[in-house]
Amino acid sequence: MSNVTLHTLTERKAAGEKFAVLTAYDATFSHLVSKAGVEMILVGDSLGMVLQGHDSTLPVSLDDMAYHTGAVARGNQGAMIMSDLPFMSYATVGQAMESSAKLMQAGAHIIKIEGGRWLCESVALLSERGVPVCVHLGLTPQAVNKLGGYKVQGRTRESALEMIEDARKLEEAGASMLLLECVPTVLAQEITMNAGIPVIGIGAGPHTDAQVLVLQDMLGITPGRRPKFVKDFMAQSDSIDAAVRLYAEEVRNGSFPSKEHGFE
Ligand code: KIV
Ligand code: NA
Repeated sequence: MSNVTLHTLTERKAAGEKFAVLTAYDATFSHLVSKAGVEMILVGDSLGMVLQGHDSTLPVSLDDMAYHTGAVARGNQGAMIMSDLPFMSYATVGQAMESSAKLMQAGAHIIKIEGGRWLCESVALLSERGVPVCVHLGLTPQAVNKLGGYKVQGRTRESALEMIEDARKLEEAGASMLLLECVPTVLAQEITMNAGIPVIGIGAGPHTDAQVLVLQDMLGITPGRRPKFVKDFMAQSDSIDAAVRLYAEEVRNGSFPSKEHGFE
């Protein structure tokens, strides 16, 4: 497989072809996931929970993200690498520039930040300086204390319209991708239809251009209750490699996620 780029994924959207995204935080899983043909690896700040055992993503530092981005970059076999800017590392435009530089130099190909239209200025400046940006909308885990828990977002008409407007403004500002977490299926469908850039979903129904899951979740090894939007791909597979390949195939052919994984 030749290297996956932003251009590849933008063309996929235009052609109506879906692509798969999975998290990885280390070289071994980066190698496995990219070798299996998963188009994009997310070095997510979910590593705060998955690797570090915290109960939120807030304690994750920029140094942590750079360390894991470097490991993933070294194991990568041609996937596009997206890295999260952690909590409060892009609170000002200046911080967004410096933090992004650090993750891009560690090996990221695109950075992800959480929030709405207040990010437009940072998105525009980063994009002008050659840093592609994905904006994470809907349930934004870094804002869990403001949101009052991990809840589905955009359920009222007002909040849905606000999210649609955020998406429009951020694309106009220069965002290269959007990610929607835990939003009603119809809202995700509308945002995806309106957008000229790829939209990745998690708990956002089947109509987004791509899907993402936390690797440990889809392997069924995350302790505790499984979120509604997660499917255990190990249940039908006899190896991690087979589970990852099955996930990518089901995302591409539209059989994952099904109705039971989404929110009305
Ligand atoms: O950090 C992460 O893994 C994420 C995904 C759940 C979208 O942001
Ligand atoms: Na994240």
